[in-house]
Amino acid sequence: MDVFKEGTTKREFLKGGNVMKKKSLALFVCFVMIAAMFTGCAPKAPAASGEQAAAAPEVIKVGAVFPMTGDVATFGESSKNAVSIAVEEANAKGVLGKKIEVIFEDDSNTPANSANAIQKLISNDKVVAVIGSVSSKCSIAMGPIATQNKVPMISSTSTNPKVTTDGGEYVFRACFIDPFQGTVIAKFATETLKAKTAAVLYDVSNDYSKGLGDYFKAGFEKQGGQVLAMESYNGGDQDFNAQLTKIKPMNPEIILLADYYNTVGLIAKQARALGITATFVGGDGWDSADLYKVGGDAIDGGYFSNHYSADDTSPLVVDFRKNYEAKFGKTPDALAALAYDAAKILFAAIEKAGSTDGAKIKDAMKATDLEVVSGKVTFDQDRNPIKGAVMIKVVKDKYEFAAKVNP
Ligand code: PHE
Repeated sequence: MDVFKEGTTKREFLKGGNVMKKKSLALFVCFVMIAAMFTGCAPKAPAASGEQAAAAPEVIKVGAVFPMTGDVATFGESSKNAVSIAVEEANAKGVLGKKIEVIFEDDSNTPANSANAIQKLISNDKVVAVIGSVSSKCSIAMGPIATQNKVPMISSTSTNPKVTTDGGEYVFRACFIDPFQGTVIAKFATETLKAKTAAVLYDVSNDYSKGLGDYFKAGFEKQGGQVLAMESYNGGDQDFNAQLTKIKPMNPEIILLADYYNTVGLIAKQARALGITATFVGGDGWDSADLYKVGGDAIDGGYFSNHYSADDTSPLVVDFRKNYEAKFGKTPDALAALAYDAAKILFAAIEKAGSTDGAKIKDAMKATDLEVVSGKVTFDQDRNPIKGAVMIKVVKDKYEFAAKVNP
């Protein structure tokens, strides 16, 4: 027990070399020590029972990096909410007999901030593992730092293959990857929507968007469809009229909007204003209650692939939904489900490792075999789970389950 551990108190006492102040300090120290002896908590007194541990519980520090501000802030909010539930549940039982403490960092969906955040969590906070981030471009920036420092990292939702392959052997994720997601959308478009022609719009500065566009194209062509146009733009662009004007005369049956909800809503609106009638399809990046707020009726009737449906009747989904709604007053989206799952996978691995050593947690993670909200998780050799996807139909501001697709 070091009463003067807090810097300010100590500095104030010693400031200016005032003898009186030093004497007061010495007296005060004596007083505290004597008082401590009488109250039975003298420093370094041998622990007679578990009481001391209870007074100062040891915690396991875990970092979490999410976009709490910026263009995909609803992603961060859902993820943080869900991790808090997982932590509460873990702490009710304890992990290795200790409590989990999560230190949250906001990367505002900007890769440079994600890299700084994980570096800070590892060097300053000495976290034993990191959950995050959401966007692939952000997790790609974090992965190599995790592996260099032998600190396991699990992204909840980053679907681009590079997250784990470039990140290295300490990097895992709780979601499926985009070669699968692109194929799911392509199959749904050709088999269910019976589309033969498509166009793709993607953000050239966003790994997720570009990757999903490419994987969809490959899948659509493999299914016998024809991709009439691949039109790109840059992150932050607000005006898509140039690209849409090129696409319009080609008259594709569907248009893949491979981006996050804000941009998707904007593009959909501008496309409808130009008289484009194609059905819009997309990936998990559409998943936000704000999609309809931005896109309005332009997005009505669109379809997107996702990781889970809140209407699933499996007991794990029902329980999670009930807890989440009770706490946060809204239906958990896929971001929430996957962040919860990522935390569960990590905490289970720490318990199984029997240690907070990075290499041991990493090995326990590799051996994961766990039923979570978004399905059953085991990892392949690239530390990616193999899981099914769902297709969701946008009906105004509601999402309806449309199909389930297994790998
Ligand atoms: N898959 C997206 C990416 O890799 C992130 C995301 C996942 C967004 C799920 C919404 C829902 O960037």
